[in-house]
Amino acid sequence: MSIVDKVLGAITPPEKDEDRAEATAKARAAASQGDWLTMALDHHDHIRTSFETARAATAPADRLSAFHALATVLNGHSLAEELVLYPALAKNGEKAHAGLAYTEQTTAKMQMAELERIDPADEAWLDKLEHIRGAVLHHIFEEEGTWFLELKEKAPDQAFLTRRFAEEYERYARGAADEGASPRAEPRSFAMDAADVDDDLEEVGRNDAGPLQMGERTRDEGDLPPSA
Ligand SMILES: [Fe+2]
Repeated sequence: MSIVDKVLGAITPPEKDEDRAEATAKARAAASQGDWLTMALDHHDHIRTSFETARAATAPADRLSAFHALATVLNGHSLAEELVLYPALAKNGEKAHAGLAYTEQTTAKMQMAELERIDPADEAWLDKLEHIRGAVLHHIFEEEGTWFLELKEKAPDQAFLTRRFAEEYERYARGAADEGASPRAEPRSFAMDAADVDDDLEEVGRNDAGPLQMGERTRDEGDLPPSA
């Protein structure tokens, strides 16, 4: 990764730490015991902890292990959101927010796929991790501070959302646990050197990360990202 890419690729979430903590507290106050919102907030805690573990890891084996733990909770959580919560957000009058949520998570998945192909012994691995972390923390802030409160207030079928969100998360988590217990682990290989990190995907990360930081865009119903 070039110096320019490093500078352009680094995402510092635009909100302050205390703003994020306030959003989390507000969302916790709106949640009920065992509901979808409590589950989602627990996942967010787990995701934040997993990022910290990965950032602190220095040995390649520890980084790989931390990456897999992070990917499991991030993928399970985001897939359950995409299958259950974002459709409900759109159905209840928040199509622009749902569209932005899908776009942000798709970008994070593309960046995680890039990270998976970088040798964890390389400095580029930590650069990429930090890039993803900044984008995911901002996405979580949007969910906790705005989108989930809208969903909690507007969706009439809260019990349905809780049941379906739990089902979809468990489906992924159970599959990941079964896979981890299987003996078919393969030796790890990396597809690229740091210099081969896909510039196009770097571009996607930057282009999609920019609008995330402009609050007015999330309020513009006519400014939906193009549908896939
Ligand atoms: Fe989330």
